[in-house]
Amino acid sequence: MRVWLASANRDEHQFENADRFIIDREPNKHFAFGNGIHFCLGAPLSRLEAKIALKALLEEFPNLRVDSTEPLKPAPNLLVHGLESLSVLL
Ligand code: HEM
Repeated sequence: MRVWLASANRDEHQFENADRFIIDREPNKHFAFGNGIHFCLGAPLSRLEAKIALKALLEEFPNLRVDSTEPLKPAPNLLVHGLESLSVLL
């Protein structure tokens, strides 16, 4: 059996506007780091790294935004959703 965490994170019964990335979503009971006894041991480290990296990036490039003229190219992976690359404007 395989649990599709990325799909659970878009469950419209749990999340309002489930398909939208809302960075300050509250409450946000997502499964990106799993759940229960196998909950990701690296979750606090990953959260801290993301916080530091995003803060530094936005301080350096305050006008950073997605270049919506470029098509999104999804990375082919059943378990983790992402992009091959993301064009941005500075
Ligand atoms: C954004 C980054 C990360 C994501 C999305 C992520 C996601 C996950 C998920 C979904 C699980 C649960 C797998 C399952 O239930 O079978 C997991 C487990 C685990 N993760 Fe992560 N992880 C990340 C980063 C890290 C990092 C940086 C470390 C180590 C420094 C780490 C160490 C582990 C370990 C050791 C487990 C197994 C826990 C167990 O089975 O008891 N992860 N991770």
